[in-house]
Amino acid sequence: MEGRMPLIGDPFPEMEVQTTHGKMKLPGDLAGKWFILFSHPADFTPVCTTEFYAFQKRYPQFRELNTELIGLSVDQVFSHIKWIEWIRDNLHIQIEFPIIADTGKVAETLGLIHPGAASNTVRAVFFVDPQAKIRAILYYPAELGRNFDEILRMIKAFQIADQQKVAIPANWPDNELIGNRIIVPPATDIATAEKRKQEYECYDWWLCHKPLEG
Ligand code: BEZ
Repeated sequence: MEGRMPLIGDPFPEMEVQTTHGKMKLPGDLAGKWFILFSHPADFTPVCTTEFYAFQKRYPQFRELNTELIGLSVDQVFSHIKWIEWIRDNLHIQIEFPIIADTGKVAETLGLIHPGAASNTVRAVFFVDPQAKIRAILYYPAELGRNFDEILRMIKAFQIADQQKVAIPANWPDNELIGNRIIVPPATDIATAEKRKQEYECYDWWLCHKPLEG
């Protein structure tokens, strides 16, 4: 990974960061948890403010899923503090998750700097699992706020996929073909392929589905 941006499947790079909750070691301080590290272009900007409100609203749901949130921008910690005070006083919500005050080093390591925007970070989202492996990365442009229900759906979907050794269909849990059912991974040998249609509901041996367990 030396010299290139981390990709899906790579370990999350080790780093020590300054946050609104003090210094943190990543990924070590969050070992055993999922975490979502998300960057925003700058404090005191309108779309980012709506994003922080949306993330904080869903924070209890993320915590129920053993998932922590960490914000990041290339702003100083006092700017983050003043911004979350503004959000508390004007929007009546307390931002509870830490925000990294990056000097540019984390942004450089993770490939977060917007090419056309000086030191502003893009809207990136890194999904990291309890083994510190990067499982997904999203990038959005400055003018488009993220869909936080999708981010929550992705965490739920990853956890089901891992626990039940299945794959998750499009638009789950409202898939147009199979509703909230989940996909049995395709057979990789003839004997298993022949058994699939007896064991599961299938469109064909390579497209079989089953109900969620539990
Ligand atoms: C915003 O959050 O509103 C924003 C930030 C940077 C560029 C454009 C919009």
